Amino acid sequence: MKAHPKVVSYLQRAVSHEFGATQQYVVHAAAAKALGLPAMSQQLHEEAVGEMEHAMEFLDRMNALGIPVANTGKDFPVGRTLKDILVYAMQTEDAAVRLYEEAQLFCGRINDEDNRVLFARILEDEKKHYADLQQQLKSL
Ligand SMILES: [Fe+2]
Ligand SMILES: [Fe+2]
Repeated sequence: MKAHPKVVSYLQRAVSHEFGATQQYVVHAAAAKALGLPAMSQQLHEEAVGEMEHAMEFLDRMNALGIPVANTGKDFPVGRTLKDILVYAMQTEDAAVRLYEEAQLFCGRINDEDNRVLFARILEDEKKHYADLQQQLKSL
């Protein structure tokens, strides 16, 4: 099935988002280590891997549909304190939630069920990431 041009664009933006989020989590994992917070560093490292896996899922879908991949990660801000790390990561997760909600709704409107399900599934992951970060920020 050929994807709608807007779905192509959503998939390309999704990959850029996931690469950017991966990069931000890696930089944050290193920052947390430098702050003497090894458990937080490990958690952020695992988040980075999770975002990379999201990128892979979108890339697999794009390859299946013959959609070209532009290898550009979005440039997300980097925190140097634990609070800033959590706040910036939350902003990134919020951006993912908004992007995937919009993509999911659009796919639903045009009856593109395969891509709607993909965006909806990853949307749930991002919502959970956001909620976990919010919880951690509250407990500071
Ligand atoms: Fe993600
Ligand atoms: Fe996420």
